[in-house]
Amino acid sequence: MEKIKVGFLGCGNIGCGVYKLLETYGKEMERNEGVAFQVEKILVRSLNKKRNWDVPAALFTDNAQDVLDNDQIDIVMEFMGGEQPAASYMIRALEKGKTVVTANKMALASHWDEIVSAAREHGAGLYYEASVCGAIPIIRAMNESLQANRISSVMGIINGTTNYILTRMSREGAAYEDVLADAQRLGLAEPDPTADVEGYDAAYKLSILSTLAFHRHVPVEKIYREGITGVTALDVACGREFGLTLKLLAVAKQEDGKIQARVHPTFVPDSHPLAGVSDAFNAVYVDGHACGEMMFYGRGAGDMPTASALVSDLVKAARAKRHQLPAVGDEPCVMADDWSCVHFVRMRAKDEPGVLALVSGKFAEHGVSISSMVQKGDRDERGYVQLIFLTHKASERAVRCALSQMDGSRVSSGSVIRVEGF
Ligand code: HSE
Repeated sequence: MEKIKVGFLGCGNIGCGVYKLLETYGKEMERNEGVAFQVEKILVRSLNKKRNWDVPAALFTDNAQDVLDNDQIDIVMEFMGGEQPAASYMIRALEKGKTVVTANKMALASHWDEIVSAAREHGAGLYYEASVCGAIPIIRAMNESLQANRISSVMGIINGTTNYILTRMSREGAAYEDVLADAQRLGLAEPDPTADVEGYDAAYKLSILSTLAFHRHVPVEKIYREGITGVTALDVACGREFGLTLKLLAVAKQEDGKIQARVHPTFVPDSHPLAGVSDAFNAVYVDGHACGEMMFYGRGAGDMPTASALVSDLVKAARAKRHQLPAVGDEPCVMADDWSCVHFVRMRAKDEPGVLALVSGKFAEHGVSISSMVQKGDRDERGYVQLIFLTHKASERAVRCALSQMDGSRVSSGSVIRVEGF
């Protein structure tokens, strides 16, 4: 069988995972799928670095031209990570008519138009299953299995690191900083955790997912983003008393022709399937007008889960008679500048007559209806208690406006956390 020549951009843990899969599973794949591959060249930063799989040194080069301008190579697999030079390399490969398979959500989300245009103009394939949620076949589902649907919402736990941290905070009542330090010790969080804990990683993935869901390019810079660094053990515990579990949720909805795309800490009812997604697992919950609600669940990161998606794309690319590019229109997407949801509001309030009337009065003035409320614990030494409100579905702007107008000497807002999934 004729072998399809493949070039790698990068050979870190994921690249080694892909090489290992091709080496150990290649014969079976040949038999099952009718395609065979040969790795021709691998671009690396350091030629002598020790790798976690025995990749022949003769394949390595530190010159990008050896992959990008190599006429032998049909398919370029990119797993160098980061925005540049990965994005430019992918564009150059596509311009040469080579198919690109990538795991790089940052480069793809940040250079979506240029990358997709290069593929379209040069008739090249672009495959990116591994860029969102590792092994979970959510891109394939969006592009193919759910084509007959008008999708109204996508809600996902699409960052494993933050899900691990929030799961442990919830189980153990531990503080954010303690769990983060532990996760870093265990290698489950990066030494610089910013991309994960501030929601950047999830925003890149949500940009790709919502673009496919709504057939409009949803630029990453238009996504509202709030990380988990401000989450307190007290909020997690208070949420539990209301039957709520805290997650870093990526939410995209289409309502009245406008798109909301946001990443923020979110409570979900304990009975919601997303509440049961623990530790570093990922899940995406989709609602389509024909298919109804469904959830995709699995490992969203890690060398072999990511390699699984990459090799699957490689096989799909090799077998494609015609490459399918994202079904995304040219019209700009209209983003919503406000949205409605249930809000969890925790505040510190003076325990004296009239304070509840003040809070409920301000909420009422702004059309925010209260669904339930508890006063927690004893007064502190200054006479304050914790009040926790759950609103009915209310405009975010109205909730913020009401809170900003409450007498600061009697109440101070501790946290406002959105609640989804009712
Ligand atoms: N750092 C990501 C996560 C994996 O924690 O899910 C790569 O996107």
